[in-house]
Amino acid sequence: MNINDLYLRMIDFSEGNFHDIAHLSGVQGFARAIALGEGCDDRTRELAEAAAIVHDIACPLCRIKYGDTRWDHQEAEGGPIAREFLKKAGLDEADIARIVFMVSHHHTWSMSDGTDFQILLEADFLQNAGEQKLAAAEVHKAAEKLFKTCTGKRLLDAIWKI
Ligand SMILES: [Fe+2]
Repeated sequence: MNINDLYLRMIDFSEGNFHDIAHLSGVQGFARAIALGEGCDDRTRELAEAAAIVHDIACPLCRIKYGDTRWDHQEAEGGPIAREFLKKAGLDEADIARIVFMVSHHHTWSMSDGTDFQILLEADFLQNAGEQKLAAAEVHKAAEKLFKTCTGKRLLDAIWKI
C-alpha cells in the first residue's frame, strides 16, 4: 500500500481545510507511532495508517448535508465516500473493505475487532483530546477503559501527565 500517495490524495480532497488536514496528519502520526511501537506487521500498520488518513472523509459532505460533523452522520456517510476514494487510489478490495469498515464505525469502540482498528481509535482519541484541550484528569478518566496498546497508553501518559 502506498501510504504517502494516499496521504497526498487526501490533502487534495481536503481542499485547503487546514483543520481537517492537521487533524488527519496528527491521527496518522499517532497511528504510525503506535503501530511501530507495538511491533505490528506492515499490513496492520498500513491499514491503521490508511484508516487514520481517511477516517473523517465524510466531514465535508456532513457539513453541507447536516450542518454538522456529528459522529453518527459521519459513520453513516463515510463508507461509500471512502470506498470510492480508495478505489481511485488503486487499493485492492480486501484492503478497501477493511478500511471502509473502520471508517464506518470509527466512533464506536465496541466495534473494534482488531489491532488496526484499536490503533485508529486510540490515535483519533489522542488527537481529539489535544484539539479539545481537555484536562489531564479528564483525558485519563475517559481513556482508562478504552486504551489497550502499551504505546497508546505511553503516549497518553507522556502528553497528559498526572
Ligand atoms: Fe477524527
